[in-house]
Amino acid sequence: MDVYGIIGNPVEHSLSPPMHEAAFDACGIDAKFVTFEADPDRIEEAFRGAQALGVDGLTVTLPFKHDAFEFADVDEKAQRVGAVNTIDFTDDGPVGYNTDMTGTLQAFDHHGVSLEGAKAVVIGAGGAARALAFGFEEAGGTVSIANRTESKAHDLADDVPGASGHGLEELPDLMAEADVVANATSVGLEEDVSAAPADAWHDDLTAYDAVYKPLETRFLSDAAAAGAQTIDGAWMLLFQGVDAFETWTGEDAPVDAMNEALRSHLSE
Ligand code: ATR
Repeated sequence: MDVYGIIGNPVEHSLSPPMHEAAFDACGIDAKFVTFEADPDRIEEAFRGAQALGVDGLTVTLPFKHDAFEFADVDEKAQRVGAVNTIDFTDDGPVGYNTDMTGTLQAFDHHGVSLEGAKAVVIGAGGAARALAFGFEEAGGTVSIANRTESKAHDLADDVPGASGHGLEELPDLMAEADVVANATSVGLEEDVSAAPADAWHDDLTAYDAVYKPLETRFLSDAAAAGAQTIDGAWMLLFQGVDAFETWTGEDAPVDAMNEALRSHLSE
Protein backbone atom coordinates (compact mmCIF):
# COMPACT_ATOMS: atom_id res chain seq x y z
CA MET A 1 0.00 0.00 0.00
CA ASP A 2 1.18 3.54 -0.82
CA VAL A 3 1.14 6.21 1.86
CA TYR A 4 0.58 9.92 1.24
CA GLY A 5 -0.27 12.67 3.66
CA ILE A 6 -0.61 16.30 4.59
CA ILE A 7 1.83 17.87 7.02
CA GLY A 8 1.06 21.15 8.76
CA ASN A 9 0.07 22.69 12.08
CA PRO A 10 -2.85 22.81 12.48
CA VAL A 11 -4.12 20.27 9.94
CA GLU A 12 -7.10 18.74 11.68
CA HIS A 13 -9.66 20.53 9.45
CA SER A 14 -7.78 19.90 6.21
CA LEU A 15 -9.85 18.99 3.16
CA SER A 16 -6.94 17.19 1.50
CA PRO A 17 -7.67 13.73 3.05
CA PRO A 18 -11.23 13.35 1.64
CA MET A 19 -10.18 14.86 -1.69
CA HIS A 20 -7.19 12.53 -2.17
CA GLU A 21 -8.99 9.47 -0.81
CA ALA A 22 -11.73 10.06 -3.39
CA ALA A 23 -9.03 10.26 -6.07
CA PHE A 24 -7.37 6.99 -4.99
CA ASP A 25 -10.77 5.26 -4.88
CA ALA A 26 -11.77 6.52 -8.32
CA CYS A 27 -8.46 5.31 -9.81
CA GLY A 28 -8.36 2.00 -7.91
CA ILE A 29 -5.06 2.92 -6.25
CA ASP A 30 -4.34 1.10 -2.98
CA ALA A 31 -3.21 4.05 -0.87
CA LYS A 32 -3.82 5.81 2.44
CA PHE A 33 -3.80 9.56 2.98
CA VAL A 34 -2.68 10.48 6.50
CA THR A 35 -2.82 13.72 8.49
CA PHE A 36 0.50 14.64 10.16
CA GLU A 37 0.44 17.48 12.70
CA ALA A 38 4.14 18.23 13.10
CA ASP A 39 5.94 20.04 15.91
CA PRO A 40 7.33 23.26 14.32
CA ASP A 41 10.55 22.82 16.34
CA ARG A 42 11.10 19.34 14.85
CA ILE A 43 9.94 19.82 11.29
CA GLU A 44 13.17 18.77 9.64
CA GLU A 45 13.14 15.53 11.68
CA ALA A 46 9.52 15.05 10.62
CA PHE A 47 10.40 15.34 6.91
CA ARG A 48 13.34 12.94 7.34
CA GLY A 49 11.14 10.54 9.30
CA ALA A 50 8.53 10.52 6.55
CA GLN A 51 11.24 9.78 4.02
CA ALA A 52 12.75 7.01 6.18
CA LEU A 53 9.33 5.42 6.71
CA GLY A 54 8.72 5.25 2.98
CA VAL A 55 5.97 7.86 2.72
CA ASP A 56 5.39 8.38 -1.02
CA GLY A 57 4.30 12.01 -1.07
CA LEU A 58 3.29 14.93 1.12
CA THR A 59 1.13 18.00 0.78
CA VAL A 60 2.76 20.70 2.87
CA THR A 61 0.67 23.42 4.44
CA LEU A 62 1.20 26.30 6.86
CA PRO A 63 3.57 26.97 8.51
CA PHE A 64 5.98 24.56 6.77
CA LYS A 65 6.13 25.65 3.10
CA HIS A 66 9.50 27.31 3.60
CA ASP A 67 10.90 24.37 5.60
CA ALA A 68 9.84 22.06 2.76
CA PHE A 69 11.66 24.37 0.36
CA GLU A 70 14.84 23.92 2.43
CA PHE A 71 14.40 20.14 2.72
CA ALA A 72 13.58 19.08 -0.85
CA ASP A 73 15.34 19.31 -4.16
CA VAL A 74 13.16 22.11 -5.53
CA ASP A 75 11.81 22.28 -9.10
CA GLU A 76 12.37 25.45 -11.11
CA LYS A 77 8.86 26.95 -10.72
CA ALA A 78 8.81 26.42 -6.95
CA GLN A 79 12.30 27.95 -6.81
CA ARG A 80 10.86 31.14 -8.23
CA VAL A 81 8.01 31.24 -5.71
CA GLY A 82 10.36 30.37 -2.84
CA ALA A 83 7.90 27.91 -1.27
CA VAL A 84 7.06 24.21 -1.59
CA ASN A 85 3.58 22.76 -0.94
CA THR A 86 4.11 19.30 -2.49
CA ILE A 87 6.90 16.80 -1.88
CA ASP A 88 7.36 13.75 -4.07
CA PHE A 89 9.63 11.17 -2.40
CA THR A 90 11.40 9.65 -5.40
CA ASP A 91 14.17 7.04 -5.60
CA ASP A 92 16.57 9.97 -6.03
CA GLY A 93 15.28 11.78 -2.93
CA PRO A 94 12.59 14.32 -2.07
CA VAL A 95 11.56 16.67 -4.89
CA GLY A 96 9.63 19.86 -4.06
CA TYR A 97 6.92 21.55 -6.14
CA ASN A 98 4.58 24.50 -5.77
CA THR A 99 1.17 23.33 -6.94
CA ASP A 100 -0.49 26.41 -5.37
CA MET A 101 1.05 28.22 -8.32
CA THR A 102 0.56 25.61 -11.05
CA GLY A 103 -2.90 24.62 -9.75
CA THR A 104 -4.08 28.22 -10.08
CA LEU A 105 -3.21 28.13 -13.77
CA GLN A 106 -5.16 24.89 -14.18
CA ALA A 107 -8.16 26.49 -12.40
CA PHE A 108 -8.20 29.34 -14.93
CA ASP A 109 -7.75 26.93 -17.81
CA HIS A 110 -10.65 24.80 -16.53
CA HIS A 111 -12.87 27.92 -16.63
CA GLY A 112 -11.76 28.84 -20.15
CA VAL A 113 -10.02 32.02 -18.98
CA SER A 114 -6.75 32.74 -20.80
CA LEU A 115 -4.03 34.50 -18.83
CA GLU A 116 -1.76 35.05 -21.83
CA GLY A 117 -1.44 38.84 -22.22
CA ALA A 118 -3.93 39.40 -19.36
CA LYS A 119 -3.64 42.28 -16.92
CA ALA A 120 -3.91 40.67 -13.49
CA VAL A 121 -4.36 42.46 -10.17
CA VAL A 122 -3.33 40.53 -7.06
CA ILE A 123 -4.63 41.93 -3.76
CA GLY A 124 -2.29 40.98 -0.92
CA ALA A 125 1.44 40.40 -0.56
CA GLY A 126 1.76 37.29 1.66
CA GLY A 127 2.47 33.69 0.69
CA ALA A 128 -0.77 33.18 -1.25
CA ALA A 129 -0.23 36.41 -3.20
CA ARG A 130 3.30 35.32 -4.05
CA ALA A 131 2.13 32.01 -5.57
CA LEU A 132 -0.62 33.78 -7.56
CA ALA A 133 1.64 36.59 -8.80
CA PHE A 134 4.28 34.14 -10.06
CA GLY A 135 1.53 31.98 -11.58
CA PHE A 136 0.00 34.84 -13.55
CA GLU A 137 3.43 35.97 -14.73
CA GLU A 138 4.34 32.39 -15.72
CA ALA A 139 1.13 32.21 -17.81
CA GLY A 140 2.05 35.36 -19.74
CA GLY A 141 0.11 37.95 -17.75
CA THR A 142 1.24 41.33 -16.43
CA VAL A 143 0.81 41.60 -12.67
CA SER A 144 -0.11 44.56 -10.45
CA ILE A 145 0.13 43.87 -6.73
CA ALA A 146 -1.97 45.97 -4.32
CA ASN A 147 -1.54 45.62 -0.59
CA ARG A 148 -2.65 47.36 2.60
CA THR A 149 1.02 47.70 3.58
CA GLU A 150 2.21 49.18 0.30
CA SER A 151 5.92 48.56 0.94
CA LYS A 152 5.24 44.78 0.92
CA ALA A 153 3.54 45.11 -2.47
CA HIS A 154 6.69 46.79 -3.82
CA ASP A 155 8.92 44.10 -2.28
CA LEU A 156 6.92 41.33 -3.97
CA ALA A 157 6.73 43.25 -7.25
CA ASP A 158 10.53 43.53 -7.23
CA ASP A 159 10.73 39.71 -7.36
CA VAL A 160 8.12 39.12 -10.10
CA PRO A 161 9.28 40.10 -13.61
CA GLY A 162 7.26 43.00 -15.04
CA ALA A 163 5.15 43.46 -11.89
CA SER A 164 4.29 46.75 -10.16
CA GLY A 165 3.42 47.45 -6.50
CA HIS A 166 0.53 49.63 -5.28
CA GLY A 167 -1.53 50.68 -2.27
CA LEU A 168 -5.17 49.61 -1.93
CA GLU A 169 -6.40 53.11 -2.81
CA GLU A 170 -5.25 52.47 -6.38
CA LEU A 171 -7.58 49.47 -6.80
CA PRO A 172 -10.37 51.35 -8.67
CA ASP A 173 -7.90 52.53 -11.34
CA LEU A 174 -6.14 49.16 -11.54
CA MET A 175 -9.43 47.25 -11.79
CA ALA A 176 -10.76 49.57 -14.51
CA GLU A 177 -7.90 48.43 -16.77
CA ALA A 178 -7.65 44.79 -15.63
CA ASP A 179 -8.82 41.41 -16.94
CA VAL A 180 -8.36 39.41 -13.73
CA VAL A 181 -8.57 40.40 -10.04
CA ALA A 182 -7.48 37.91 -7.39
CA ASN A 183 -8.00 38.20 -3.65
CA ALA A 184 -5.00 36.75 -1.83
CA THR A 185 -5.74 38.40 1.51
CA SER A 186 -7.65 36.84 4.38
CA VAL A 187 -10.35 39.53 4.02
CA GLY A 188 -13.74 37.82 3.64
CA LEU A 189 -12.76 34.73 5.63
CA GLU A 190 -15.90 33.98 7.65
CA GLU A 191 -16.81 37.67 7.37
CA ASP A 192 -19.08 39.51 4.94
CA VAL A 193 -16.46 42.03 3.75
CA SER A 194 -14.39 42.40 0.57
CA ALA A 195 -10.84 43.54 -0.11
CA ALA A 196 -12.02 45.17 -3.37
CA PRO A 197 -14.32 48.19 -3.69
CA ALA A 198 -17.79 47.01 -4.82
CA ASP A 199 -18.21 49.72 -7.45
CA ALA A 200 -14.91 48.93 -9.20
CA TRP A 201 -16.18 45.64 -10.70
CA HIS A 202 -17.19 45.45 -14.38
CA ASP A 203 -18.24 42.70 -16.73
CA ASP A 204 -14.88 42.31 -18.49
CA LEU A 205 -13.29 41.04 -15.27
CA THR A 206 -12.72 37.56 -13.90
CA ALA A 207 -12.69 37.42 -10.07
CA TYR A 208 -10.65 34.77 -8.26
CA ASP A 209 -10.77 34.35 -4.50
CA ALA A 210 -8.26 32.36 -2.47
CA VAL A 211 -10.72 32.42 0.47
CA TYR A 212 -13.05 29.38 0.45
CA LYS A 213 -14.97 29.90 3.70
CA PRO A 214 -17.61 30.87 2.71
CA LEU A 215 -17.49 29.74 -0.92
CA GLU A 216 -19.47 32.73 -2.03
CA THR A 217 -17.55 35.58 -0.48
CA ARG A 218 -18.56 39.24 -0.64
CA PHE A 219 -15.64 39.69 -3.10
CA LEU A 220 -17.22 37.17 -5.50
CA SER A 221 -20.84 38.26 -5.01
CA ASP A 222 -19.92 41.91 -5.74
CA ALA A 223 -18.07 40.72 -8.85
CA ALA A 224 -20.99 38.58 -10.02
CA ALA A 225 -23.45 41.44 -9.45
CA ALA A 226 -21.44 43.55 -11.90
CA GLY A 227 -21.47 40.75 -14.49
CA ALA A 228 -17.90 39.54 -13.90
CA GLN A 229 -16.99 35.85 -14.18
CA THR A 230 -16.15 34.26 -10.82
CA ILE A 231 -13.85 31.41 -9.75
CA ASP A 232 -14.25 30.46 -6.09
CA GLY A 233 -11.52 29.41 -3.65
CA ALA A 234 -12.39 25.71 -3.83
CA TRP A 235 -11.01 25.61 -7.38
CA MET A 236 -7.56 26.63 -6.16
CA LEU A 237 -7.74 23.98 -3.44
CA LEU A 238 -8.92 21.41 -5.97
CA PHE A 239 -6.31 22.04 -8.61
CA GLN A 240 -3.36 22.23 -6.21
CA GLY A 241 -4.51 18.73 -5.19
CA VAL A 242 -5.03 17.60 -8.79
CA ASP A 243 -1.53 18.68 -9.67
CA ALA A 244 -0.05 17.01 -6.56
CA PHE A 245 -1.90 13.75 -7.36
CA GLU A 246 -0.61 13.74 -10.94
CA THR A 247 2.94 14.49 -9.76
CA TRP A 248 2.89 11.63 -7.23
CA THR A 249 1.14 8.96 -9.29
CA GLY A 250 1.90 9.89 -12.90
CA GLU A 251 -1.80 9.30 -13.65
CA ASP A 252 -4.48 11.75 -14.83
CA ALA A 253 -6.38 12.91 -11.75
CA PRO A 254 -10.11 12.12 -11.49
CA VAL A 255 -11.00 15.81 -11.28
CA ASP A 256 -14.78 15.37 -10.98
CA ALA A 257 -14.51 12.85 -8.12
CA MET A 258 -12.05 15.10 -6.26
CA ASN A 259 -14.24 18.16 -6.82
CA GLU A 260 -17.32 16.36 -5.55
CA ALA A 261 -15.54 15.13 -2.39
CA LEU A 262 -14.11 18.57 -1.71
CA ARG A 263 -17.38 20.43 -2.18
CA SER A 264 -19.40 17.97 -0.14
CA HIS A 265 -16.96 18.40 2.78
CA LEU A 266 -16.94 22.19 2.36
CA SER A 267 -20.71 22.35 2.62
CA GLU A 268 -20.75 20.31 5.88
P1 ATR B 1 -0.82 34.20 3.48
O1 ATR B 1 0.52 33.56 3.63
O2 ATR B 1 -1.99 33.27 3.65
O3 ATR B 1 -0.93 34.96 2.20
P2 ATR B 1 -0.16 36.45 5.19
O4 ATR B 1 1.26 36.33 4.83
O5 ATR B 1 -0.53 36.62 6.64
O6 ATR B 1 -1.00 35.18 4.72
O7 ATR B 1 -0.79 37.63 4.33
C1 ATR B 1 -2.06 38.10 4.57
C2 ATR B 1 -2.36 39.22 3.56
O8 ATR B 1 -3.68 39.70 3.83
C3 ATR B 1 -1.44 40.41 3.63
O9 ATR B 1 -1.25 40.91 2.33
C4 ATR B 1 -2.22 41.38 4.52
O10 ATR B 1 -1.89 42.75 4.32
P3 ATR B 1 -0.65 43.42 5.14
O11 ATR B 1 0.59 43.01 4.41
O12 ATR B 1 -0.90 44.88 5.07
O13 ATR B 1 -0.72 42.87 6.54
C5 ATR B 1 -3.63 41.12 4.03
N1 ATR B 1 -4.66 41.53 4.98
C6 ATR B 1 -4.97 40.92 6.15
N2 ATR B 1 -6.00 41.57 6.75
C7 ATR B 1 -6.32 42.63 5.95
C8 ATR B 1 -7.30 43.68 6.02
N3 ATR B 1 -8.17 43.76 7.04
N4 ATR B 1 -7.34 44.56 5.00
C9 ATR B 1 -6.48 44.47 3.95
N5 ATR B 1 -5.53 43.51 3.83
C10 ATR B 1 -5.44 42.60 4.81
